[in-house]
Amino acid sequence: MGKKYANLVLDKQFKIAEIDDRMYGSFVEHMGRAVYEGIYQPGHPKADADGFRQDVMEMVKELNVPIIRYPGGNFVSNFFWEDSVGPKDQRPTRLDLAWRSIETNEVGIQEFNKWTKKIGSEIMMAINLGTRGVADACNLIEYCNHPSGTKYSDLRIRHGKVEPYNIKTWCLGNEMDGPWQLGSKTPEEYGRLATETAKAMKLIDPSIELVSCGSSNTSMETFPVWEAETLMHTYDYVDYISLHQYFDNYEDDPKNYLAKSMEIDHFIKTVIASVDYVKSRKRSKKQINLSFDEWNVWYHSRVGDNIIQTKDNEKKLMTMAKNPWRKAPHILEDVYNMEDALVVGLTLITFLKHADRIKIACLAQLVNVIAPIMTDADGDAWKQTIYYPFLHVSKYGRGIALLPGLQSSKHDTKDYTDVTDVDSAAVYNEETEELTIFAVNRDLEEDITLESNIRSFEGYQFMEHIVLENDNLKAVNTVFEQSITPKKSCEYEMENGILKIKLNKKSWNVIRLKKQK
Ligand code: AHR
Repeated sequence: MGKKYANLVLDKQFKIAEIDDRMYGSFVEHMGRAVYEGIYQPGHPKADADGFRQDVMEMVKELNVPIIRYPGGNFVSNFFWEDSVGPKDQRPTRLDLAWRSIETNEVGIQEFNKWTKKIGSEIMMAINLGTRGVADACNLIEYCNHPSGTKYSDLRIRHGKVEPYNIKTWCLGNEMDGPWQLGSKTPEEYGRLATETAKAMKLIDPSIELVSCGSSNTSMETFPVWEAETLMHTYDYVDYISLHQYFDNYEDDPKNYLAKSMEIDHFIKTVIASVDYVKSRKRSKKQINLSFDEWNVWYHSRVGDNIIQTKDNEKKLMTMAKNPWRKAPHILEDVYNMEDALVVGLTLITFLKHADRIKIACLAQLVNVIAPIMTDADGDAWKQTIYYPFLHVSKYGRGIALLPGLQSSKHDTKDYTDVTDVDSAAVYNEETEELTIFAVNRDLEEDITLESNIRSFEGYQFMEHIVLENDNLKAVNTVFEQSITPKKSCEYEMENGILKIKLNKKSWNVIRLKKQK
């Protein structure tokens, strides 16, 4: 086996695209302890006057998520939005069939909007296209976005919100291809319903942007036919198509696990191909972009939760019916380890390489449910391992995504061939005159020196190298101990525009440079 290497060429002129800030979005679903005991816990010592946990808010603010998908997820497919607005003491308690839970509606559109304003974010609203349809979508958007003088806009005003919410981005349902979804549809059924709903919603507010449902994941039997067939209906009325993907390492094969970002790259390329195929068939000039509005690692909690998403509905019912009806149950509380953080970093690198087509992406989710932030109901909030790569890319990954001319030694894994030992992406911020290189050394055995040719960045000097690593890939953070936190390294060589930095094995790296005055 030859020497391992990673050579990167970056040039100011070789741009992929300006990165849409919404690439760093997230997701809060009414499920588990995401809302109750997550963002909202009146009576907790850290709760503010509105009942929102300030320790959680501080961490979310640091992540700087510009858009948050809400209120689901599977939850939305049987959500009755009217139950979640108006005086709290008159809101009904409902059964949430998606997660076999009790929904009290203490938090609804009004409270969630207030919370997003506090943390400096926007709502990306999903509508129920499972058990409801066009009329309810119209009523909801009239309630949210119409100024006044109509039934639902005046209802909003009576509820104390005079100015419209002006929600700009709307998802036309959630995972409508999934047999586990309440009111799931065939491509033809969904395509027709989504089109008629989109038409009506845009009549009420032409300034909104709409997301058409793509496949629930790449292993759906109908992927990617679903994309092509549904878009044949919705193409002229929508702006984005959604992608969802969750990773797992059930087989405990870290080498194979760390290669899974190749699958996401393939997924993105396949969806782009399907979208552009429809564009050609329609002889359309319009471009549909991608909203990767659910992505993360999700598997640690699956067996214990007794919740399955399967095409075998009988099996789903048998499994879930064993769970009692509970409010805010501890479900999907994955505890993330070091290798999960690397997978999250690799996914973000993959997104940056597709910044020309991915305009929205939502880390699923934000608090307590497959989340970077966890809370102890009787104590503190804490940061999971995956918090850090997301934080770094959200913080330093704003600007222009550059074409990474990367040559790296490669290896094969159980399911993937020609996996680069190092993967990398770079972002150039013209305004702040900063260049940031994100890189993962996914080799399990060897440190590798990354040689970056940055000659076109004249006068740029090394600022810092942030590293997230732990020799034990299974190491986790807990409320008691943060064993995985970023460290700084100052070792580098720079000569004639070539920057050499050692990337430790199994590490996440952020290399920052700035133009010297
Ligand atoms: O994020 C958890 C669930 O995963 C969502 O409710 C659903 O859309 C997806 O299958």
